[in-house]
Amino acid sequence: MALSLSNFLFAAALLPSLGGLARAATRNYDFNITWVTANPDGAKERPTIGINNQWPIPPITADVGDRVLVNVNNQLGNQSTSLHFHGLYMNGTTEMDGVVGVTQCSIAPGQSFLYNFTVDQPGTYWYHSHERGQYPDGLRGPLIVNDPKSPFKDDYDEEVVLTFSDWYHDQMPPLLKWFISYANPTGAEPVPDAALVNDTQNLTVSVEPGKTYFFRMINIGAFAGQYIWFEGHTMKVIEVDGIYTEPYETDMIYMGAAQRYGVLISMKNSTDANFPFVMSMDETLFDTVPDTLNPNATGWLVYDSKKDMPQAALLDDFAPLDDSLLVPHDHEKIFDHVDYSFNLDLTMDNLGDGANYAFFNGITYVPPKVPTLYSVLTTGPNATNPAIYGRNSHAFVLEKGQVVEIVLNNDDTGKHPFHLHGHAFQVAYRSTENVGNYNGSVPLIQTPMRRDTLVIIWLFHCHIEWHVASGLIATMIEAPLDIQKTISIPPEHYDTCKAKNIPTAGNAAGNTKNFLDLSGENISVKPLPAGFTARGIVALVFSCISAFLGLAAITWYGFGDLGKNELAAAQRRIREGGISLQDDNH
Ligand SMILES: *[C@@H]1O[C@H](CO)[C@@H](O)[C@H](O)[C@H]1NC(C)=O
Ligand SMILES: *[C@@H]1O[C@H](CO)[C@@H](O)[C@H](O)[C@H]1NC(C)=O
Ligand SMILES: *[C@@H]1O[C@H](CO)[C@@H](O)[C@H](O)[C@H]1NC(C)=O
Ligand SMILES: *[C@@H]1O[C@H](CO)[C@@H](O)[C@H](O)[C@H]1NC(C)=O
Ligand SMILES: *[C@@H]1O[C@H](CO)[C@@H](O)[C@H](O)[C@H]1NC(C)=O
Ligand SMILES: *[C@@H]1O[C@H](CO)[C@@H](O)[C@H](O)[C@H]1NC(C)=O
Ligand SMILES: *[C@@H]1O[C@H](CO)[C@@H](O)[C@H](O)[C@H]1NC(C)=O
Ligand SMILES: *[C@@H]1O[C@H](CO)[C@@H](O)[C@H](O)[C@H]1NC(C)=O
Ligand SMILES: *[C@@H]1O[C@H](CO)[C@@H](O)[C@H](O)[C@H]1NC(C)=O
Ligand SMILES: *[C@@H]1O[C@H](CO)[C@@H](O)[C@H](O)[C@H]1NC(C)=O
Ligand SMILES: *[C@@H]1O[C@H](CO)[C@@H](O)[C@H](O)[C@H]1NC(C)=O
Repeated sequence: MALSLSNFLFAAALLPSLGGLARAATRNYDFNITWVTANPDGAKERPTIGINNQWPIPPITADVGDRVLVNVNNQLGNQSTSLHFHGLYMNGTTEMDGVVGVTQCSIAPGQSFLYNFTVDQPGTYWYHSHERGQYPDGLRGPLIVNDPKSPFKDDYDEEVVLTFSDWYHDQMPPLLKWFISYANPTGAEPVPDAALVNDTQNLTVSVEPGKTYFFRMINIGAFAGQYIWFEGHTMKVIEVDGIYTEPYETDMIYMGAAQRYGVLISMKNSTDANFPFVMSMDETLFDTVPDTLNPNATGWLVYDSKKDMPQAALLDDFAPLDDSLLVPHDHEKIFDHVDYSFNLDLTMDNLGDGANYAFFNGITYVPPKVPTLYSVLTTGPNATNPAIYGRNSHAFVLEKGQVVEIVLNNDDTGKHPFHLHGHAFQVAYRSTENVGNYNGSVPLIQTPMRRDTLVIIWLFHCHIEWHVASGLIATMIEAPLDIQKTISIPPEHYDTCKAKNIPTAGNAAGNTKNFLDLSGENISVKPLPAGFTARGIVALVFSCISAFLGLAAITWYGFGDLGKNELAAAQRRIREGGISLQDDNH
């Protein structure tokens, strides 16, 4: 059951260094973050977040061992931003991980921020904004680390980067406002409007007969998992999420949001025909599928541009590779012991504002007042106490070099792609669907595949951007006392905080005198009043809304925290048919 995470278990630990910084170069990127207009599916022009007035945004490319300098200047005018380099371990440079509220303050309009790090790992990665819900508006692109010592370097002739994405016609701020509101009590995620390959459709990829190509494929989408296949050609998987694998042949892959696959494809020896390749969004993730949605995007391997571009054949069902069958090329065995184990039980539920939130162990993430890294650096020995990071940052404090086992029980009905910052983890076990929680008495994979997602503060979260916004995040703080000795924050990072009046010292609440006093910390919305279950409130909201009951009645059901204006606006939208609660569509 490829990627349909029901319950899975993995262990994360320090990976051996890839060493060798022989002839390191410095790669400079000057990125002005700017609004542009784009229309990648040909159906709607919309404001999109670009770089240096261009979109799609440029790939970041480096060789193993290089230093990368990305100088960001936020020219958006009306939104803050940040950049995260997805999958990079940031070993010793956690302050460059780009996560707003964890490793930095968000970069306000007009402000600059320099990301300065080395890449000591080869592979296919991507970079994207890690400011709340922002990247699906366009700020996401490939990050490729070339490896002169790749074990597969003699097996292909050329390399092709392909991005795959879902796409929305509306911007994220209004979509998010609707998604996390009492008008959407079941937490139905907005359904994408289109599928894109390389931020377009009908892409042609020129190929030469007889050659073998290394396709680096990246799901840079916000939500949809994707089935991908090339008609008439077999894929040989050699890399996933930056980890080389033993070659594995397959006709179809499934790529969850944020995952990457590196595959070799050998071309035919003749130029008789061109061949379609297809990306098809996993519609089982969508609560409803609008009639107008085309979940597919087609591209072509073009052997001869004068010949037809044939229609893609329609498939009745999907049979993708089960990625738990992959074996890492280095044959690293499962860790022989576990130092620390904990469960993360995933649920979705409504809080007192009627909106639907996502929880690990009953905690929905809310960013602390002080970015977590800054709390680590300013709380001395108390940095090892998880309580100082605040209730809703859901902090786990880990020790250096520990083998950590996380048991993730998915008690939600949906599939979720999880990402761990700073590490690649061993996926030691993944159950089939609906077999109940992990019970410890199942055989573990002995040479488990590693996926993304080390020593420092890392975020563990679902990579469906909607669920990041609704709180499906926990924070891992690794070796905080070592961080205090080894990390120094460039002064300009503090300037971005100053520009936004964000405190940079003390516990999660900004208390610098008593780290155990968290009064005033950011916390989640209060739970539903006693006696109202989530199901109850869905029914109540539904009947309230269809009967157009007044404000008072709605307030009585626990929507007291919502402003009058929002309530009126939501009711207006519902009346005008913008939102239909019956089918969770909007
Ligand atoms: C991180 O860096 C430290 C010190 O340079 C090194 O000892 C360690 O092996 C590195 N870890 C990884 C995962 O590269
Ligand atoms: C791609 O081709 C399809 C089928 O011809 C068409 O409907 C769609 O609009 C095209 N997309 C773009 C971006 O041109
Ligand atoms: C970024 O914007 C500044 C100010 O407008 C301009 O001087 C600079 O050339 C821009 N950089 C790039 C790479 O476009
Ligand atoms: C920000 O500016 C863009 C581009 O002008 C505009 O389309 C968008 O609605 C604005 N967003 C917000 C949240 O104000
Ligand atoms: C980047 O970091 C390195 C290592 O800390 C430092 O030597 C270098 O001066 C930094 N570069 C810039 C432009 O700040
Ligand atoms: C797809 O886009 C990437 C940049 O995002 C580019 O490097 C690559 O060449 C494009 N691929 C094709 C086949 O055009
Ligand atoms: C193309 O020809 C080469 C050399 O004869 C052969 O090794 C290869 O298998 C052929 N490729 C295909 C796809 O038939
Ligand atoms: C998308 O592709 C799938 C698989 O080929 C097919 O079953 C489905 O009918 C296609 N949808 C549309 C709207 O073409
Ligand atoms: C957390 O606190 C900061 C500083 O008071 C505030 O700007 C931010 O909006 C709060 N965030 C949440 C989600 O409450
Ligand atoms: C543990 O879970 C597995 C897989 O879900 C199941 O087959 C097995 O019967 C369970 N064992 C116990 C002791 O509950
Ligand atoms: C640090 O924690 C200890 C208890 O573990 C407490 O006695 C002490 O007051 C704390 N320090 C500060 C500055 O809060």
